[in-house]
Amino acid sequence: MTALFQQLASALTGLAYSLWHLLTFPFSRSSRWRSLRLLSICRDPFVLERIPLSRLLPEPFMVAVGPLKSLDHNTSEYELVCLAALVKNAGAEQVFEIGTYDGRSSRAMAMNLPDRGRLFTLNLPPGQDFNEVGERNVDSCLNVKVVSGQRFLGTAEAARIEQVYGDSATFDFRPFEGRMDLVFIDGSHTRTYAENDTEIARRLVKATGGWVVWHDATLYGVAPYLRQQITGQGWPLRLIDGTTLMVGYCREGRFVTLPTQ
Ligand SMILES: C[S@@+](CC[C@H](N)C(=O)[O-])C[C@H]1O[C@@H](n2cnc3c(N)ncnc32)[C@H](O)[C@@H]1O
Repeated sequence: MTALFQQLASALTGLAYSLWHLLTFPFSRSSRWRSLRLLSICRDPFVLERIPLSRLLPEPFMVAVGPLKSLDHNTSEYELVCLAALVKNAGAEQVFEIGTYDGRSSRAMAMNLPDRGRLFTLNLPPGQDFNEVGERNVDSCLNVKVVSGQRFLGTAEAARIEQVYGDSATFDFRPFEGRMDLVFIDGSHTRTYAENDTEIARRLVKATGGWVVWHDATLYGVAPYLRQQITGQGWPLRLIDGTTLMVGYCREGRFVTLPTQ
């Protein structure tokens, strides 16, 4: 509660200072920067829940990332860096990804696992362009655009990646429960799937603690769902600056304050 008041107070102070500055020095460089910031505050529903990636990392910190080139429907280049960094920083040995597509994010995360590490990546079964409720949408159609995981097939990282198939609404996650250091959610982006996949992720992470990462957290059905959990349930999630990646830290099935540096 205190943290919420502190954030509110700092947002109001920032707002008041921005207005004062805009009125007194309307054409200065700082005014232009502040007006852009004001605009983004109005547009961005998660403005009070942001965190720079560097707050989550120690110094020095090295990370391997690739393949960097972003194709349609992949994460952005910087989002790929963030994912790789989160896996490495967590010292993750077991990762679960919902939504493989061409396997670019799977490969970048697997690159930062130890040799004994495993990344399980779930995709709709080959050739299936609809989901379990018979819905054909943008996400389900992606499944027939590329060969699942084609960007990790035949690479060194493939030895640490296990492809699994199914619909996240009906897949049997029980063998993976309580084992994961990090879960990356990037399958179907409807609100119903965002909620279902989040509930699954809470069961997949280790009881001692693990990360849940959502892609496209500011978009589609994912945004209203996460907004509701943050405001209604008080989940202490944070959007990584400059990305659509939301991160949460889950212990014993509950989201707790992020371990920051
Ligand atoms: C946006 S893409 C994932 C992109 C990938 N993570 C990357 O960054 O390169 C979404 C993937 O989720 C799959 N998908 C869609 N609906 C799904 C569902 N209900 N269950 C499992 N996978 C699903 C799609 O086939 C597609 O491969």
